[in-house]
Amino acid sequence: HVIRELGTRADPRVDRITVDGKPLKLQTALHYVAFNKPVGVVTTLTDPEGRPCVGDVIAALKHSLHPVGRLDYHTSGLLLLTNDGELTARLTHARYGVPKTYAAKLDRSPTAEQLARLRGGVKIEQGPAARARVRSTRTADGKGWVTVTIYEGRNRQVRRMFEELGLRVEKLRRVAIGPLSLGSLPTGATRKLLTEEVTLLRRAAGLE
Ligand code: URA
Repeated sequence: HVIRELGTRADPRVDRITVDGKPLKLQTALHYVAFNKPVGVVTTLTDPEGRPCVGDVIAALKHSLHPVGRLDYHTSGLLLLTNDGELTARLTHARYGVPKTYAAKLDRSPTAEQLARLRGGVKIEQGPAARARVRSTRTADGKGWVTVTIYEGRNRQVRRMFEELGLRVEKLRRVAIGPLSLGSLPTGATRKLLTEEVTLLRRAAGLE
């Protein structure tokens, strides 16, 4: 009904409030934090086994945030923490194809043929082959470091792609989510994203 009296109370969680026929949008402040997840931290809010988890990190922040997607226990690197549900959905669904970039240390240097297979798409299960962009390789002590960009986030995707090629991943670190880079953020540290980074990330996800 139409409110004519000042001081009338409404609860935006229960009542549908419109102003001149338009629904009133609740403004919740959105927060974005980058976390450099160390190896040995689980990407959950709590851990029944008492292992260090992302929930411990969030508890130390001022806002109640959630991790965007998941990094394996043995994977380190960039994990985004936010309360932006719209962005979270888009970054975690393959449909939007926001690329994720990983630096992988392999048990040996990949051959040109293995790299070509990686670029062409490796089949890791039923369904289409997982596409990857392989940007650079360098070798140190006879082992290979490879930077791969993938466009989905299937379970253990990067490790399984290399396994399929007969290569073993010794270390895996996520270095970028779309335009957002891990940069020099120390392991275990968090930092707030810059406004510009938020804009670029939302734009990459088809928002803004
Ligand atoms: N691919 C993996 O294999 N592990 C991760 O944690 C992320 C991507």
